[in-house]
Amino acid sequence: MTAPNRRDFLKGAGTLAAASALPLSLVELAFADAAQNFTFAYISDAHIQHIGGTKFVRNWDRGLIRAVAETNLLTPKPDFVMFGGDLAQLGTKEELDHGAEMLAKLNFKTHCVMGEHDYYLDLGEYWSKLFGPQWYSFDHKGVHFVVLNSVLTYDDWTFKRWPTAEQRMLEMAGLDNPNGSPFMVGEKQREWLKKDLEKVDKNTPLLVFSHSPLQKIYKGWNFWTEDADEVQALLKPFAKANVVYGHVHQIQYNQIGNISFNSVMATAWPWPYPQSYAQAEQHLPKLTVPMNRADPFFERDATGWQFIDVNTGRVAMKFNLYNNTNRTVAFNPATGRPEDVQFQDPARQIPPQAHY
Ligand SMILES: [Fe+2]
Ligand SMILES: [Fe+2]
Repeated sequence: MTAPNRRDFLKGAGTLAAASALPLSLVELAFADAAQNFTFAYISDAHIQHIGGTKFVRNWDRGLIRAVAETNLLTPKPDFVMFGGDLAQLGTKEELDHGAEMLAKLNFKTHCVMGEHDYYLDLGEYWSKLFGPQWYSFDHKGVHFVVLNSVLTYDDWTFKRWPTAEQRMLEMAGLDNPNGSPFMVGEKQREWLKKDLEKVDKNTPLLVFSHSPLQKIYKGWNFWTEDADEVQALLKPFAKANVVYGHVHQIQYNQIGNISFNSVMATAWPWPYPQSYAQAEQHLPKLTVPMNRADPFFERDATGWQFIDVNTGRVAMKFNLYNNTNRTVAFNPATGRPEDVQFQDPARQIPPQAHY
């Protein structure tokens, strides 16, 4: 696999006119001799929210509609699309149906990851009817892909604590609600993962998709997976392991041993960075350069989607950020870790701005 040429990378709605002026042969030439080249797109955290009747929160609808439309305009065309979880806000049939209808407009095969907002109303029952198994793996052009449900928690919390399913969902839906419970992959799924990975050559590039980070960042906001260490141990034998996760609605990246971690953006809203919340300990990976969040009153600041290129066996993330500077985070072989291509050096980081 080789990297797509920069000029071929993205022709979203805003640049469509310019892109169509490019000689088509340039695009074709770049891929003519590389049958194994492939790309895929990732959309996450749409949080489709039902108001009542036929009404849904318009902002969240618009974020997903825009991501789907831009994905359909990608050149080169992605082989498939991953949706990273939190399709719904409160997991209702109306929200999941409405979200599924929007995702169905994608011109590409779509794989889905379970988010906690999709799960805790009926424990994933309706979601599974729409999207299939909650954890699975597949091989595509030399890469082994694994999808996990990382938002499970203790049975005691799930089954014994709440009088209604709606209340259970509401308790898990809050960012900083102490009544929530830490997410986990769980023993049953880890057993499955162990067996699944046993048959994969350890030099095969491995991409694992989860909703919560498979690393411990900040427990207070559930930027956390309780059994992350056990899952990481299963990924350890692979020379090139990558974990891609949603849930955090912000750019994060990190390297733990041979495992590269990258987060994906939300189409709904940005979460603040945990270090901005001074009341509790947090473990935001030191490698991460927080994105400049220029204006908290820009509703689309720090939301968007990303194009993921795995041509080196490592993830390179090209973030297409609505109302913010586009960013690229790519594995740097010289340092052995993912880095922000433009802003890793503190001297080059954009100072925070305030608009009052
Ligand atoms: Fe989310
Ligand atoms: Fe989430």
